[in-house]
Amino acid sequence: MSRFFASWYDFFMNPLEKKKFKRIRKELLTMATGNVLELGSGTGINFPFYENAENVTAIEPSQHMIECSLAKHKQAVVPIEIVQASAEELPFAANTFDTVVATLVFCTIPNPEKAILEMKRVCKSNGKILLFEHVKMQNRFLSILQDWLTPAWKKICDGCCLNRKTLDLLMANDISIMKVQKYYRDLFVFAEAINKK
Ligand SMILES: C[S@@+](CC[C@H](N)C(=O)[O-])C[C@H]1O[C@@H](n2cnc3c(N)ncnc32)[C@H](O)[C@@H]1O
Repeated sequence: MSRFFASWYDFFMNPLEKKKFKRIRKELLTMATGNVLELGSGTGINFPFYENAENVTAIEPSQHMIECSLAKHKQAVVPIEIVQASAEELPFAANTFDTVVATLVFCTIPNPEKAILEMKRVCKSNGKILLFEHVKMQNRFLSILQDWLTPAWKKICDGCCLNRKTLDLLMANDISIMKVQKYYRDLFVFAEAINKK
């Protein structure tokens, strides 16, 4: 993740955050309980919203993003430890976490299949998986547009793919999706899932 992208991320996201995402994040993160793992915590935008977690371990591979997240880290009301790591290789023992959180991150992880297997491994059996992601849309025209835009978008937005079928990928890996809420048609999805082992 480049220093430029990390420094401007919050600025570019601010209109969407104010309009809708802040409320969605709050609703999602209130459900994060026990020992929580957050994947790709970026600028720490979720940190102030954890209220019911005992503690949070936030993994993030980019040193620039980690530096940008330190201000939000101070606003947290629960203990949060930031660990520099990638979702494809989590430095934790199996069955460590009660809840795993991923927001706007499966679009960017280079190997999402490997990250899902790692997420399943470190999450306890019947643990919660909470996601807020943008995904490939159902509408044929819009999904073709997403495919068409992705190569350029990926370059501009540091690896972000517009056309990932993240929910399909979760279900293909035996993660049971209990509830889905869709926003902006079905561009963004909020999902509560259970880790079946
Ligand atoms: C679009 S940002 C989202 C940040 C934050 N989760 C949010 O909700 O705004 C994507 C984040 O995923 C991180 N990322 C990229 N590759 C990753 C990987 N392999 N494992 C974990 N995080 C990764 C990036 O560094 C970046 O912080």
